[in-house]
Amino acid sequence: HQQIEESLRILNEFAAQYFHDALLQSEEGQTIGLSYFKERGFRTEIIEQFRLGYCPEDGSSFYKAAIEKGYAPEMLEKSGLCKNSNGRWYDTYRGRVIFPIQGMTGRVLGFGARILKTNEKSPKYINSPENELYVKSRVLYGLYQSRQSMGKADECYLVEGYTDVISLHQGGVDNVVSSSGTSLTEDQLRVIGRTTKNLTILYDGDSAGIKAAMRGMDMALAQSFNVKLALLPEGHDPDSYIQAVGASAFHTYIADHKEDIIGFRMEVGMKEAANDPAKKSKLVNEIAETISRIDKAEDFALQDYYIKQSSERLQVDEQGMINLVNKFIR
Ligand code: CTP
Ligand code: MN
Ligand code: MN
Ligand code: MN
Ligand code: MN
Repeated sequence: HQQIEESLRILNEFAAQYFHDALLQSEEGQTIGLSYFKERGFRTEIIEQFRLGYCPEDGSSFYKAAIEKGYAPEMLEKSGLCKNSNGRWYDTYRGRVIFPIQGMTGRVLGFGARILKTNEKSPKYINSPENELYVKSRVLYGLYQSRQSMGKADECYLVEGYTDVISLHQGGVDNVVSSSGTSLTEDQLRVIGRTTKNLTILYDGDSAGIKAAMRGMDMALAQSFNVKLALLPEGHDPDSYIQAVGASAFHTYIADHKEDIIGFRMEVGMKEAANDPAKKSKLVNEIAETISRIDKAEDFALQDYYIKQSSERLQVDEQGMINLVNKFIR
């Protein structure tokens, strides 16, 4: 096992360097891959920092280079970098731009590879398969580049995708990781928790994002994180939003929209309840019960704060809210 892990690590390092050089030094890489990244607003410095790359279109140039260097075909297959079909070898990520996925210490554990023009036939991203080195449930994209700042700021931002991590770094938010395609796992949270217990989830403002955020918040609370959430405007992810409005407006937006779990439930609940009195009454009761669970002896000010907040945001009378909360305390 350990030997395979080490072989994969060395092979991945070779591949990351190959793809990175192909992006910056080959004519094809520059005209196709590099201009793609530039059009997305990624500057050279960030392309270097994240070791972004490109895999040539022709189909097997990486395979040939790796064989020439003495890498075994079985390892090329195990790593997911190459595939064999009817006796012919080809590069899995051909014609795609490459995002190396690094572990805490910078080792390349695997790759995400994006197609340049999305279509229905092929998936937008292809990621490394599970193997001795790449264990999806434990990997956090951006951890290597972000960990120091996560410690310094004593906070971690969690986003959905590779490009979100990269664009936020470029905009000066450098304490950010992504669960990349998998829904957030207990192990990923444990990894974050070793550096900071303050987590801010930045997910897309669509229904999938809201659902994922709810689940993430509950999981994080269960691991005693202090968890906050800001949803991006509908149709945006952190990458598209910071690229659209700039770093300073992005920061303002996050500061204005950061919610804790009670605030978030109210926000989502009020949207759902819009013209439905039954739904609204259920929501008011739920929130009152949650507020009643705050230990009053320990945090009277916080309970008071939530009572004021909720009566305002749920548009109910403050004394009514107090009575309701008290009903749940026994
Ligand atoms: N993802 C994946 N496979 C897919 C689609 C998505 O692994 N077919 C993962 C990737 O890690 C991706 C993340 O889920 O970064 C979020 O998906 P999405 O929001 O669709 O992609 P973006 O990161 O926004 O990528 P882009 O901006 O390049 O479209
Ligand atoms: Mn370089
Ligand atoms: Mn999404
Ligand atoms: Mn995106
Ligand atoms: Mn996205």
